Amino acid sequence: MARILDLPKVELHLHFEGAAPPAFIRGLAQEKKTDLSKIFRADGSYAYRDFVHFLSVYEAATSVLKGPEDFARLCTALMEESAKDGVVYSETFVSPDFCGGGDVGAWKEYLHAIREAAEAGEKTYGVTLRGIVTCIRHFGPDKAKAAARCAAETAGDWITGFGMGGDENMGEQGDFAYSFDMAAEAGLRLTTHAGEWRGPREVENAVTDLRGMERIGHGVRAIEDPRLCDILAEREITLEVCPGSNVFLGVYPSLDKHPIQQLRARGVKVTVSTDDPPFFHTTLRKEYERLAKTFRWGADIFQDLNRTALDAAFCDAATKEAIK
Ligand code: HPA
Ligand code: ZN
Repeated sequence: MARILDLPKVELHLHFEGAAPPAFIRGLAQEKKTDLSKIFRADGSYAYRDFVHFLSVYEAATSVLKGPEDFARLCTALMEESAKDGVVYSETFVSPDFCGGGDVGAWKEYLHAIREAAEAGEKTYGVTLRGIVTCIRHFGPDKAKAAARCAAETAGDWITGFGMGGDENMGEQGDFAYSFDMAAEAGLRLTTHAGEWRGPREVENAVTDLRGMERIGHGVRAIEDPRLCDILAEREITLEVCPGSNVFLGVYPSLDKHPIQQLRARGVKVTVSTDDPPFFHTTLRKEYERLAKTFRWGADIFQDLNRTALDAAFCDAATKEAIK
């Protein structure tokens, strides 16, 4: 087991604000004299009832991140946590909606601070971090366009992709085609959350209605349609699977009922991530430990997952080569 847990890990699906340790958010709330007591349990962890409530607690926690400097501090905290898990490369979802409200000028200031912290963190912690600009589905297509504009203006070697998170039950993937097209034209690679709450049709919509989609956040409910699994396998669409998140939020009742093993068996490209680790009481090490125990996976499978993740990473070839 030690060999598995100590493997150098590649993580593709990590929400920047969702990686904030509760103590970090509580500290900021105190500094800013903001009462956030409602979002914490007595034991100090985040308190929410279900996915939609999770999203509102997430937004409340994020409300005390007030300026570029706070996001830079969060970046350092996130990289420190990732390093503890043996993560060597990570892609994180950053939302212009929380960093200047979609204004390009403000976004550039936030991004500059985050990027400086990421570069310092790479030296301190040995983790290489890249950003995926992420629009928020339940904020609607107009806000998504503003996020895509921010993404397009800062596309490059640090911002490598454009994605969408938020409430999958709101609107349709195709409503956001304009934004995804704008990001793709700026050279960004694409991923979107799909098939976590809605079924396989949502995953199919993501890969048919959004041109150039390369990865799917979650995507696990594709397992309900064998033909769709074949399409994903054939097109080498990579799933960013977050098993602990799915079990914690009740998408599946327990890890042994999770389809990650079946998806792999069907030839779908599968990777493992944490999503929002402190919210779901997980870390990448814990994910590996639970998967190894539940499915009796050996180190060879985890090595394969990491290879798949590095292949599907949105960074350039030189960065990948340096990580290998
Ligand atoms: N799923 C969807 N949207 C999100 C999440 C998540 O886990 N975290 C932050 N935004
Ligand atoms: Zn997610």
